Amino acid sequence: MARGHRDPLTDLRIEPVTAENAGDLDALFASGDPRVCQCAYMRLANAEWSWSSRDANRAVHHRAIADACADGRAAGLIAYHDDVAVGWVSFDRREAYGRLTSSRLLRPIDDRPVWSIVCFVVAPAARRTGVARRLLAATLDYAREHGIRLVESYPVDVASATRSKRSAAELWRRTVPMFEQAEFTTVGVRRQHSTAPPRPIMRRALRARRSR
Ligand SMILES: CC(C)(COP(=O)(O)OP(=O)(O)OC[C@H]1O[C@@H](n2cnc3c(N)ncnc32)[C@H](O)[C@@H]1OP(=O)(O)O)[C@@H](O)C(=O)NCCC(=O)NCCS
Repeated sequence: MARGHRDPLTDLRIEPVTAENAGDLDALFASGDPRVCQCAYMRLANAEWSWSSRDANRAVHHRAIADACADGRAAGLIAYHDDVAVGWVSFDRREAYGRLTSSRLLRPIDDRPVWSIVCFVVAPAARRTGVARRLLAATLDYAREHGIRLVESYPVDVASATRSKRSAAELWRRTVPMFEQAEFTTVGVRRQHSTAPPRPIMRRALRARRSR
């Protein structure tokens, strides 16, 4: 086992988020950056984003979850351990994320329909046990089962970082190696300006799961 890893959590259950279980995220989002963000940052364009209103952000997130459910899909997955939410991944149609649609840096690579995997949160006590990795695998399963053919991510290029160590909070988009290991490939790399860190865009095409 590589340094920094802990034993994988057994009995991890992963469920699509719904209007009914969305409240289970409250405890998971109670500390660190998620406390204010409430997973609304990527859903809002810069001009709409307000660090001051946790409740407004929570409402934005819950509305997105309800909208997705009304459309017959989920806007993310929750990982449970002993019936407690210990992990979260946010994904949705690319155009559902206001920050992506308004971003010059992360403007679309092409006009193919694509789903974006934008954020991970794992409870501090459950970190380094493979929860994020398992949430990504479950996201790909969910996508295949729902006829999604293309998924995209915007991970941190840890190899290019000027600092060798990144805090857990900085890795909410996860890392290039984690997506490479899940067979994503880099389809674009952009920079805010010539000396800014590279911002990779990674994709994976999926085949529909055959029904047995
Ligand atoms: C980043 C985060 C999601 C990682 O979740 P995790 O379940 O601990 O990750 P995993 O155990 O599945 O590890 C997956 C890979 O990432 C690596 N990794 C995990 N945490 C890391 C860290 N802090 N630094 C470097 N690598 C890290 C693991 O080593 C593993 O890679 P490897 O198998 O190649 O070694 C978790 O630390 C977290 O929730 N951080 C806070 C994020 C946040 O604030 N999100 C909301 C923003 S508003």
